[in-house]
Amino acid sequence: MAFELPQLPYAYDALEPHIDARTMEIHHSKHHNAYTTNLNAAIAGTDLEGKSIEEILENLDMTKGAIRNNGGGFYNHNLFWNIMAPNAGGKPSGDLGAAIDRDFGSFEEFKAQFAKAGATQFGSGWAWLCVHKGGKLEVCATPNQDNPLMPGVACQGFPILGMDVWEHAYYLNYQNRRPDYIEAFFNVINWNEVARLFEANK
Ligand SMILES: [Fe+2]
Repeated sequence: MAFELPQLPYAYDALEPHIDARTMEIHHSKHHNAYTTNLNAAIAGTDLEGKSIEEILENLDMTKGAIRNNGGGFYNHNLFWNIMAPNAGGKPSGDLGAAIDRDFGSFEEFKAQFAKAGATQFGSGWAWLCVHKGGKLEVCATPNQDNPLMPGVACQGFPILGMDVWEHAYYLNYQNRRPDYIEAFFNVINWNEVARLFEANK
């Protein structure tokens, strides 16, 4: 069973004005689609066929560039679409909100660390909020399509929030102004989904 490009859980224009429809359409139908196609090609006929994407990434041979880049790209974007939503943003409450206060001091301090991780990731990559077993939260960043499930990568927790800082995620609307895109991203974070991932993986 080959991996399939998931449908977005909302329309391409649903995240406007924060993320524009044209960017969402190209990002999903071209970029994510290419990672999916190329991942399937990279694992075809190998013993990785039929394994879950999490299993593939957690046991990845990091020298296998095609699987690293396209498997990461497939997984990272699946997460990305789901941790965004229209009419979202704000602050998390409940257990996740309490854990953020405990581990970062305040939501504002978490936001500052996460924004900085994204803004200072040189070139293409991702900023992450990860949870470790036991519930501790950590912010980190990765280059390219790496993610913290991969062996030895970044903070080695389970990613519950990921922010794509590749130029393809923002350039049409924000050009070189990555910090403006990052500020806008906070208006579309689907904290209900982040909280669900926190509870399921802490
Ligand atoms: Fe992307």
